[in-house]
Amino acid sequence: MPVVRLASETDVTGWRQAARALRSRDVAPEETLWTVDGSGADLFGEAAPAPAAGAPAFTVPKTFVDLADRVILHRSDERFSLLYRLLWRLSREPNLLHIHSDPDVQKARHFAKSVGLAAHKMKAFVRFRMVAGPDGLESYVAWFEPAHRVAEKVAPFFVRRFASMHFSILTPDACVHWDTKALVVLPGADAADAPTEDRLEDYWLTYYASIFNPARLKVGAMRKEMPKRYWRNLPEARLIPELIAQAEARTTSMVAQPHSEPSRRVVRAAQRASRDAPYDGQALSTLEEVRVGAQLCRRCDLYCDATQAVPGEGPLQARLMLVGEQPGDREDLAGRPFVGPAGQMLDQALAEAGAPRDQLFVTNAVKHFKHEPRGKLRLHKTPNTGEVTACRWWLDNERRIVRPRVIVALGATAALAVFAKPIAIGETRQRALPLADQVKGVVTYHPSYLLRLPDPDAQARAYAMFVQDLKFAWSLAG
Ligand code: URA
Repeated sequence: MPVVRLASETDVTGWRQAARALRSRDVAPEETLWTVDGSGADLFGEAAPAPAAGAPAFTVPKTFVDLADRVILHRSDERFSLLYRLLWRLSREPNLLHIHSDPDVQKARHFAKSVGLAAHKMKAFVRFRMVAGPDGLESYVAWFEPAHRVAEKVAPFFVRRFASMHFSILTPDACVHWDTKALVVLPGADAADAPTEDRLEDYWLTYYASIFNPARLKVGAMRKEMPKRYWRNLPEARLIPELIAQAEARTTSMVAQPHSEPSRRVVRAAQRASRDAPYDGQALSTLEEVRVGAQLCRRCDLYCDATQAVPGEGPLQARLMLVGEQPGDREDLAGRPFVGPAGQMLDQALAEAGAPRDQLFVTNAVKHFKHEPRGKLRLHKTPNTGEVTACRWWLDNERRIVRPRVIVALGATAALAVFAKPIAIGETRQRALPLADQVKGVVTYHPSYLLRLPDPDAQARAYAMFVQDLKFAWSLAG
């Protein structure tokens, strides 16, 4: 019986090569044994055959390729043989993947779904701890035990999200390391290799406790979304039993409270107190401090109705910073700037301008979503000058930490935040305006303005100018 020895548990390339060779020789699935090198299985079997010379080429549907890429990450020992069985059967039953009642198809789809879920959980539940490297550089380490072998697959998600951070995610299967330039994958590690506490943990716990709304508590849904197996690596998990225990009493007392407007004196005192906390007015030195600190911001009232603060993102060494107005509905939910419709238009324009988004720092003048309810919708409301001024503290910190050569203000609110005075966009486009410390400012339209233009010709003209402005700013940034 041919024995296929794969190089690792996630050796997709090895599996593909061997499966092609076996299928070209029409080797039946039940005549093949799949094993991972060093596992000790059937050491006395025949070696796997080479591809048959002159065998006709064959192709497989893309759905199968995508399915196989996921199924291989499942922990079941059966996954390699299951996939080969499907591949072999596909040559006889080309419609096989559409037969949802077929036990092999069902099982493969079930495996793929579990892998997708494990990847989703990893994106949600990885918690980094800060460590100081030997060279004094801050880096972040997380320990995570995914239900399936998804660490390498999910790593690019964290790279996109934390492009400017040095980080490592350690798992029992593989460890991924990012140093802001290259992603390296090394063999798995042990929980003891990861740190368990850092100074950001208290901020995170305060934030988690502050966003926990007892009136919205659904224990079943919460347990489903955050299964217990992940709790031991989640700092906030230790708060959960107590928060759940207090939920009923807190909800009853919230309902019993008469609705009243706090007096202006109380609001001002609270704002003054929180304006200085938690940093006592000192400038911040890392983007992580901005990210965590902004969640605690009480410098104006916008935090009250927003899901979370949305700080900027992008590489620390970005030469170009884009400043929008404020997060929209989608950004408020996702916690990332420019991911909704305006973000899609921005991405398209950046691509046409030849300015790769992953090399830019993208942020907003105001970090919380200002909106008013309209039925089930949350309609955007333009932030006022007081809110823009209050939030400038965060933008100024981002500017100082990233030190871009060029800052592009997208629209009037961003221009007000960047230049600290109102600027007429139409008259100032395509000019390098001086800012402090040799930084140049550029103003252009906001992508939402383009989306709102009712006349398609006017929209196309304004869009072309927008692309031109981004191109100008990108070349100015060198
Ligand atoms: N509009 C903005 O100004 N910023 C975003 O992040 C999204 C929409």
